[in-house]
Amino acid sequence: MGKRTPLAGQRILVTGGAGFIGSHLVDRLLRQGASRVLVIDNLFIGSEKNLAEAMATGRCEFFCDDAELPGSLAYIFERHRIDTVFNCATKALNYSFLNPANAFATNVTVALNLLELQRRNAFRTLCHFSTSEVYGSAVYEPMDESHPRNPTTTYAAGKAAADMAIESYVRMFDVDAFIVRPFNNYGPRQNYLGLLAGVIPITAWRIITGRQPELHGSGEQSRDFIYVHDTVDAVIKLYDVADPGDSVNISTDNQVTVRQLLQMICLKMDYVGEIVSKPGRKSDVLCHNASNEKVRRMIDYSLTPLEEGLGQTLLWYREQIKP
Ligand SMILES: NC(=O)c1ccc[n+]([C@@H]2O[C@H](COP(=O)([O-])OP(=O)(O)OC[C@H]3O[C@@H](n4cnc5c(N)ncnc54)[C@H](O)[C@@H]3O)[C@@H](O)[C@H]2O)c1
Repeated sequence: MGKRTPLAGQRILVTGGAGFIGSHLVDRLLRQGASRVLVIDNLFIGSEKNLAEAMATGRCEFFCDDAELPGSLAYIFERHRIDTVFNCATKALNYSFLNPANAFATNVTVALNLLELQRRNAFRTLCHFSTSEVYGSAVYEPMDESHPRNPTTTYAAGKAAADMAIESYVRMFDVDAFIVRPFNNYGPRQNYLGLLAGVIPITAWRIITGRQPELHGSGEQSRDFIYVHDTVDAVIKLYDVADPGDSVNISTDNQVTVRQLLQMICLKMDYVGEIVSKPGRKSDVLCHNASNEKVRRMIDYSLTPLEEGLGQTLLWYREQIKP
């Protein structure tokens, strides 16, 4: 028996639910038996296409709107009783190099808007999506939840500030809010277009469209890549057991360097050409070696091997991207 009311039968709001992780979460919540899943997304990077499966159930409603505006959230809450909110809205990390203040503000403002609604009993439970980026480069490894928060970008600084806001609202007002902290996710639906795309999608896009893959910096920067379905599964299970104010890393046990990752992608996509070297990105975190001891203690945790998840992901990009 979980600590909270089961998700089945609930009315749930997912901010940023037309994005990568958010849309998979929406699908899973509907499969889990949620009576209604509402999505607010300003389509900054999300896409209505990601919600096609959800909309087909007839139990998903999409609001193309900005969760930074209290009035936009008020509009939804005035018309719908909502039990639980999953806060996935964000603007991609790379965007913080283009518009640092707004990247920070989005992460903080959406969280504060939701906390203010929750403090006034507009809904019961908040599950907030933090990021491994709040830790910055490792001071010790593997990085557990007690690792110092040392953000190196305004994106991460906004996320760290949102985490602290949630922790303080829990202490001050006893709201039922907890934090999940995924490491690097990959999988179908991750944006592959433009400056904001992550390393796996952009490399797949470059290869499929006849361009050379690019390696930024030494390639020795390492990351912990987790398959999006594993993240969503962990979030759903953590909902039952996480204490208010808790934060929980969601990661694998494997470190892979960006160079190794590119080599894996090239191999899987039968690319035999050159990988072009590019200058490193300023403020790039060097190492993200995560501890997932806590999540393993809390839930039945299952992880898809990188080889398998990457295979499925690249297949999806092949279907989506025109050569
Ligand atoms: N993808 C990862 O590797 C990763 C890793 C760690 C944490 N996270 C966190 O998980 C959550 C989901 O990430 P994602 O990868 O799906 O990102 P994403 O960019 O695909 O999704 C975020 C969504 O938020 C929407 N959005 C942006 N500003 C908004 C606003 N003001 N109002 C409403 N919607 C807005 C975007 O349009 C987008 O659809 C984020 O909070 C992110 O920080 C992601």
